[in-house]
Parts: sequence; structure tokens; C-alpha cells
Amino acid sequence: MRKKYALVGTGSRARMFYGAILGPHHNHAELVALCDTNQVRMDYTNKVLTEEFNSTAVPTYKAGAFDQMIKDSQADVVIVTSVDRTHHRYIIAALEAGCDVITEKPMTTDAEKCQEIIDAVKRTGREVRVTFNYRYAPHNSAVRELIASGAIGQVFSVHFEWLLDIKHGADYFRRWHRDKRNSGGLMVHKSTHHFDLVNFWLGTQPDTVFAMGDLRFYGRANAEERGVFTPYTRTTGVEAAKNDPFAIDLTSNDVQKSLYWDAEQEDGYQRDQNVFGDGISIEDTMSVMVRYRSKAVMTYALHAYAPWEGFNVSFNGSKGRIELMVRETSYINAGQSADQEGAAEGIRLYHFPLHGEAREVPIQRAEGSHGGGDNIMLRDIFAEEQDANSPYRADYRDGAMSILTGIAANRSFQTGLPVDVKTIVQF
Ligand SMILES: NC(=O)c1ccc[n+]([C@@H]2O[C@H](COP(=O)([O-])OP(=O)(O)OC[C@H]3O[C@@H](n4cnc5c(N)ncnc54)[C@H](O)[C@@H]3O)[C@@H](O)[C@H]2O)c1
Repeated sequence: MRKKYALVGTGSRARMFYGAILGPHHNHAELVALCDTNQVRMDYTNKVLTEEFNSTAVPTYKAGAFDQMIKDSQADVVIVTSVDRTHHRYIIAALEAGCDVITEKPMTTDAEKCQEIIDAVKRTGREVRVTFNYRYAPHNSAVRELIASGAIGQVFSVHFEWLLDIKHGADYFRRWHRDKRNSGGLMVHKSTHHFDLVNFWLGTQPDTVFAMGDLRFYGRANAEERGVFTPYTRTTGVEAAKNDPFAIDLTSNDVQKSLYWDAEQEDGYQRDQNVFGDGISIEDTMSVMVRYRSKAVMTYALHAYAPWEGFNVSFNGSKGRIELMVRETSYINAGQSADQEGAAEGIRLYHFPLHGEAREVPIQRAEGSHGGGDNIMLRDIFAEEQDANSPYRADYRDGAMSILTGIAANRSFQTGLPVDVKTIVQF
């Protein structure tokens, strides 16, 4: 029998999931319904289902009819790909209705919502899986295996720098993410991936977090200080924005036009806001120190205006050091083929034993988005036979642990003080 999946949030990321259901997994998976606040986006999704995937249109439900959708569709699993601040509502309603949940990261955006999800999982006994695609990228799996094999002994410290460039990084400042209430800021929205990787690599959990963050590059005040003045709120069809290298034109790409330009009459959401305009409440320059329960310490930095995209991470242990450098292709969501979103280009993984020859560790190359992680993850989450003990499988605890570092960092930005992670939520 095919498992029934209903999906909430029919924007850019949804396609990866329904594409997997209708494509390689159609023998044991079925898409049964769509839910969103925006009917135009749901109708566009049904058009894609019929015209591109040769499938049939599925019933659509406005957000207020989510419970009705579950009843009508008899869904087994709800896939949550809506705006971050709404995840908890759908996760909890789905669990209460007897469904399991697959949710996009971040699991949610703040401590209260995180606690509500934890309580709902305990109350219902149902499952929440968080789709941490980066775990599955072969270079990231290789680091976990190296550390688990004891190659560098006990890990004492981690130095991790992630760079978002002026194409992909800037995109967070055009979209709903620019309002911290929607996304929790990049510390939650973006760094949830990175903090999850560290938990996954080291097999530990965060204990104490101290952080500083600010908005230094994007936003009107910063631009004005550098002598730049861009007097428009959005960029599509705006003559004055024509030569702005940060401007995008939503009508120049069929997918962006259908998903956002044609749909904005309904909800007023503009996906092409001026990155040097008003109303940005997230940071673009962030530095974090974390102490883990294993007593390892991490220095972490995230910048959203770099000339290239990717990351460097190094681990120092009692028997040596590991260094990983990854350069990713930059992208704008829904701006090109989803397979090109964040594909890994230059990958270098080195193992330096304390006594002995350094060596470059060969990495199996995986094609596709997010360092090749998306495709491998999809095979795992939609597989007919599930391995409940797989280390790659991220549940609500992993979802929570990865955002708690970011939530603590946000608190530390405000107070200037270190935050004890144990005090944020109760498991
Ligand atoms: N794992 C990854 O690498 C990755 C990559 C991209 C996006 N994502 C995640 O996927 C999710 C969606 O991102 P996206 O890029 O598709 O954004 P998007 O803006 O393209 O789509 C968001 C959708 O949510 C809908 N929505 C807004 N409010 C809603 C509500 N109250 N109820 C129901 N639907 C509502 C919008 O109408 C829109 O269709 C986010 O949580 C994001 O973090 C993850």
C-alpha cells in the first residue's frame, strides 16, 4: 500500500519533495493534498504536477482548512515546507491528528514554539523528522566517520566559518527571512544546518553559548553610511534599480514569475525587496562560541556578503587535526534548476595525524543540490524499508538541539551574556 503524503507550503522548496514522491518513489508514496495561504501558488503546483510530472491535480486547502485536509485526505504523513514561523502550527496539528511529520529546517524559530513541539511529540507518540540534507553530503558523512573512527582522538575544539555570498546570501535580505519574526534570523534559519552538523559530527549537544551579531552590510542605514542610496522598496520593473547588482527581476524567470510575481496580489508578499531598504531585523555578521557537553569548544562565524560561498571547518583532537574546505555553487531559490542549488564544487578533506604523514581523504562525489545531500536524503526519507537506527535520521530532538544554539545566540546578542542551553526548553 502506498503511504499518503499531504504537503503544506507550496513555494520553492516543496518541489523537491513532491518531485521525489511522484518520481522515483511513486510505487510506495502518493501525494494526496496541498495546503497554503496562497491559492495561486497551489494552482501553479497542480499545473506542475499535471504538465511536468504527468500526474493528476490534488485537492487544495487554504491554511484555515488544514484539519479538514487531514480528514479528507486520510494522510499518513504531513510534509511541512511553509514559512519557518508557521512550522510549529502544522507540526502540532498533524501530530494531534495522528500523522507523522517530515519538516523542513529549522524545526521552528523560538523557544516557546520548540517547547510546544516537544510536548506534542511526547503527548502523541508520533514521529517528527527534520530534513537535515547536509548530513548526507558525502564530505560531511566522511568527517563524521573519520571522527568516529578515532582518527584524531578526542575532539577538543572546532573552528567553523560559513560564507554566504552576495548572490545567495543577499537573497535572505530580499525575502520573508529578513524579518526575524519569520525566520529567527540567520542564526536559526541558516545556522541550524551548521549547528546540526557539529552535533552530528561530534555526537554531542550544546551546553553554553556566547555570541555577538549585527547588521553591518545590508539595510538602508548601512548603505547610506557607505554613500549608497537606493530609493526603492522592491526591484522588479523599477527603472532606478536597473543597474543595481543586487536587484532581481521576478519576471525574468518562469518559476519565480509563477510562484511569486503572479501570486503576490493574493497575499501582498514581495519576494524582490531592496536589500538596502528598510525593515530588515536580521543580522548579517555573526560570531558564536559554543561549549559542548563533551567539553569541546567551537568558534563559529557566519557572514552573508562574501565574495564566494562555502565553508571551512577544522577539528583539533588529542591525536591530530581534520580540515575540510568546501566551495558551493551560489544560487537564488527558484532561480534555476533545483539541482544546482548549492552543489559542492571544490572539496578538500585533510587528515593530519599528530605523528605521521598528512593525507588528503578521497571523497565520493555526489551530484545535486546541498553538496549532493538532497538526493541521498530523499532516498532515505522515502525508502520503503526504514532504518530506525540510522545516524542520518534526524528527529525532533536533533531539530531542537540544532536551533537551541541559534536561539541561545540570539539571546546572547541581546544581553551580551553567555546562555545555558539547558534552561531554554525541557525535554
Ligand atoms: N533544507 C534546505 O536546504 C532548504 C532549502 C530551501 C528552503 N528550505 C526551507 O523550506 C521552507 C520553505 O522555504 P521556500 O524557500 O520554499 O519559501 P517560499 O517563500 O518559496 O515558500 C513558502 C510557502 O509557505 C507559504 N505560507 C506562508 N504562510 C503560510 C501559512 N500560514 N500557512 C501555510 N503556508 C504558508 C507561502 O505562501 C509559500 O507558498 C522554509 O522553512 C525553508 O527554511 C530548506
